[in-house]
Amino acid sequence: MTTVVDNEGHLHLPTARVTAGRLLFDAAEGADQALALGAFCLAVPEDLDVEPGLRFCRSFYEPAEPGTADRYRGHREDGHADSKLGYEDRPDQVEQLQLESHLWSRYLPEEVTALLERMKDLTLDALYGVFDVAGIPEHDRETVTGGARQDTGLCYTTVNHYRADLSDRAGIVEHSDSGFITLICTDQPGYEILHEGRWRPVREEPGHFVVNLGDAFRVLTRKLPRPVTAVYHRVPELRPDGAAHHRSSFTIYMGPRYDMMLHQYAADGTLHEYQGFRDFSVEKSKKLGYEFHSRI
Ligand SMILES: [Fe+2]
Repeated sequence: MTTVVDNEGHLHLPTARVTAGRLLFDAAEGADQALALGAFCLAVPEDLDVEPGLRFCRSFYEPAEPGTADRYRGHREDGHADSKLGYEDRPDQVEQLQLESHLWSRYLPEEVTALLERMKDLTLDALYGVFDVAGIPEHDRETVTGGARQDTGLCYTTVNHYRADLSDRAGIVEHSDSGFITLICTDQPGYEILHEGRWRPVREEPGHFVVNLGDAFRVLTRKLPRPVTAVYHRVPELRPDGAAHHRSSFTIYMGPRYDMMLHQYAADGTLHEYQGFRDFSVEKSKKLGYEFHSRI
């Protein structure tokens, strides 16, 4: 496998693209590297404009303007009553809005919803591509995802505003994502990965999203010949100087529903129930010292 760390200590993720619904890695060893790292870069389709998403990241926390229905603003005070997720002021630099995919059109600007829907399709294609590489049989995929293709699994967006003026705290604390896959769009460097025991900044790959693989994949494949890493990642404290605006990122997450079981293959390739995903998530939050979503 070719080296993935350059002379400056930056980690280079393998690059891939989705063509006609199929995930293709640019280099022969890219797929193996992606499984081992738990991350890769995915080309932004040429006709996809991410700007509405970044614009939303830079405004969702601003107070709503009285008498207007501008859905780019006002999400800090909106209770998002239909969502089990919603707005959260985190103990790190991030304030975030999380909304399940079936609620996007209700709460978000039309052009943001359209963008997220396209990114969701891309994430699904990437997920199925990683299933191919990891050797997950077609007939098990709906069972383990809760029906990602039928839209009956869990898919949500997370919109992050990194407040660089809040000092003495991490940008976002180190963690692995809980689901199968997360597609990330960001406007600034800062993303770091724990690689062979060291935190490494990830080199920006212009025109690419970053894709993370998470705990549901790790649990599922742990005993298989090609296990998937749940990548440990973070964003260190951001300083207010230098950046034209605070850091922004928004993501598409796909994982099992909280009322589902996580699954795991035994070494002989048979599929077994492992643990309830909600129990798994509550245990994880206790270990890491954060509160699990109060509405779930
Ligand atoms: Fe994450």
